[in-house]
Amino acid sequence: MTMSEPRLPYPAPVAIEHPELVAYRSEFPILQRKTYMNSCSLGALSNRSMQGMAQFLEMWNEWGAHAWYEIWMGEIAKARQKFAKIIGAQLHEVAIAPSVSVALSSIATALDYSERNNVVMAAMDFPTLAYQWLVKQRLGVECRFAESPDRIHTPPEAFEQLVDGKTALVATSRVFYTSGYIQDVRAVADIVHKHGAYMLIDDYQGTGQIPINVNALDIDFLVTGTLKWLMGGPGLAFVYIREGLLAQLQPTITGWFGHQDQFQFKTKEFEFRREATRVEMGTPAVPTIYTANGGLDIIQEISVESICERSRYLTNDLIAQAREHGWNVCAPQEPERRSSIVMLEIENPEEVVKALVTHNIITDSRPGLLRISPYFYNTIEENTIVIDAIAEILASRK
Ligand SMILES: Cc1ncc(COP(=O)(O)O)c(C=O)c1O
Repeated sequence: MTMSEPRLPYPAPVAIEHPELVAYRSEFPILQRKTYMNSCSLGALSNRSMQGMAQFLEMWNEWGAHAWYEIWMGEIAKARQKFAKIIGAQLHEVAIAPSVSVALSSIATALDYSERNNVVMAAMDFPTLAYQWLVKQRLGVECRFAESPDRIHTPPEAFEQLVDGKTALVATSRVFYTSGYIQDVRAVADIVHKHGAYMLIDDYQGTGQIPINVNALDIDFLVTGTLKWLMGGPGLAFVYIREGLLAQLQPTITGWFGHQDQFQFKTKEFEFRREATRVEMGTPAVPTIYTANGGLDIIQEISVESICERSRYLTNDLIAQAREHGWNVCAPQEPERRSSIVMLEIENPEEVVKALVTHNIITDSRPGLLRISPYFYNTIEENTIVIDAIAEILASRK
């Protein structure tokens, strides 16, 4: 602890369940200084990722540009491989991108809207998803939004009412960022495919914390990133493209990393790579590849299944503790639909978030909602620390 940092006002947390996962707390130095409950915004930084970053700098310093061919391309390939394994895809079906927004933009330009001009999304989805097609309205694309009856979930029937023979794509999240609700993706995919449209999943809030198999869910495209549950930091996103779609997918935005003969430097002709890497564009952020490989290794070591089990245990406890205080928790009724995002309806949540920082507790807010997102490295005792601190702050308002 540095001199300027206030001391923790509460006793240090004690592990009572899943000791093998709690042991990972020592991998994340921030957990010794803060009650860190904002992993759905930014996953905690691990020692492994820090070592990765140091290694990157060392390579840069030692080898300069030679590191590209000898080492860095290999690290990028490793990141793709690890991601493919996590989602149950084949290596040639995955690619990297600098952000989910860029990945989405690329896919959005590859679709043919001449016969099928509508795209269906959920009103609850993260806005960057909708923006890709809202900006295409002037090109004749129609955006349709499935509404939520309760701001927690969007039933598959809401999509069914909007999808028709002119739907090009249904694009939605597996886990809603506002409620943590895990959608029945397979039910939506079945509706989508019945109408001959494609299914795209924005899995930023799901990958790493909830197991997934893209084939079992019958997904055509998936985009996600390393910032949150993959604990890899900003600057890296992943794309999955179903094998059968690869040959026909020709985005109208691209770059030299998408060219089949990238290092032939052919200025006058463009040929897409045969693999999903055809959507890659320019020089990737290698430092993030290193930090991301650290996070991905931890996820693979622990397994997404174990992470999910522990996160659920923490989330259910958090919801129960919040309800004991009589607070309105914006969470799915069915425990199997819950993920590690807990929203409390609280007036001026931004003020509470700020006050919590003075208690060394990191949370977040969205309009009208205080957002708490525990992960496998948190503990029941930390749940109590957060809940008690919120109660204290709310009591001081009266
Ligand atoms: C579900 C979801 N999709 C997309 C994004 C944004 O992704 P990017 O900034 O990589 O474009 C976020 C960020 O919070 C998100 O929660």
